[in-house]
Amino acid sequence: MIILVGGEKGGSGKSCLAQNIAVYIKNHISDSLMMVDCDPQRTTSDWIQERNNDESLSKINCVQLYGKIRNELISLNNSFDYVIIDCGGQDNLALRSSMAVADHILLPLRPKRRDLKTVVHMEDIVSTCKMVNPKMNVAFVITQCPSLPSMASRILEAKEVCRSFDLPVLNAITFSRNIYDDSEESGMSVMEKDVSGKASMEIQAIFHELIQASHHEIANEFINLEAQSVCA
Ligand SMILES: Nc1ncnc2c1ncn2[C@@H]1O[C@H](COP(=O)(O)OP(=O)(O)OP(=O)(O)O)[C@@H](O)[C@H]1O
Ligand SMILES: [Mg+2]
Repeated sequence: MIILVGGEKGGSGKSCLAQNIAVYIKNHISDSLMMVDCDPQRTTSDWIQERNNDESLSKINCVQLYGKIRNELISLNNSFDYVIIDCGGQDNLALRSSMAVADHILLPLRPKRRDLKTVVHMEDIVSTCKMVNPKMNVAFVITQCPSLPSMASRILEAKEVCRSFDLPVLNAITFSRNIYDDSEESGMSVMEKDVSGKASMEIQAIFHELIQASHHEIANEFINLEAQSVCA
């Protein structure tokens, strides 16, 4: 299964989500996992290096790939249960190549105007890539949300912007919490800092909602096929 965390807005939380989802899968779902870092800034590669220096943490492998990476991703997908890609907007070619083969695509956005302005272009890229990868399951996720009740409408408005482009947005969000920043410093995930903490719950909710969404789609497809065969 290939999971891409991507998007073109800097600082929206792509690396943070990719890393935390990777740790969640590695520690709770499957040991067979490879991370792919497409960012020349090497954020995830540096985090992996920190992590793999700490004997107490589960080891995660990571490769850096740039440009037309479709074939490399297909071959990694044949060797590992999970391939998690951290892909920013600087490498547009890598983003498109990943979208062409990914099973699940998570597009983080902060509830801020500059992030929301990228939705129109992302929708364009998604619809082009859907032509070659019609089975892709894609969803936006709103990240780094302010926790003040007076700001709640911003979160709802951000979700509304995504929906207005006919793209799904997850119910699950991340709030702005120091633990995200603090954990990555030492190659950790929020789950390893505080297993039952709120950030840990946020990551698990995001992962399961993303995966579940495609299960619903597959189930609906199956029901449609059943209905067609009954009618025939
Ligand atoms: N929910 C959150 N709460 C608080 N801080 C967060 C949260 N998510 C991410 N951050 C912090 O925001 C900063 C940017 O996050 P991150 O590096 O994951 O973004 P990015 O989309 O990968 O950026 P880039 O485009 O530069 O690759 C990091 O310092 C990260 O720790
Ligand atoms: Mg990044």
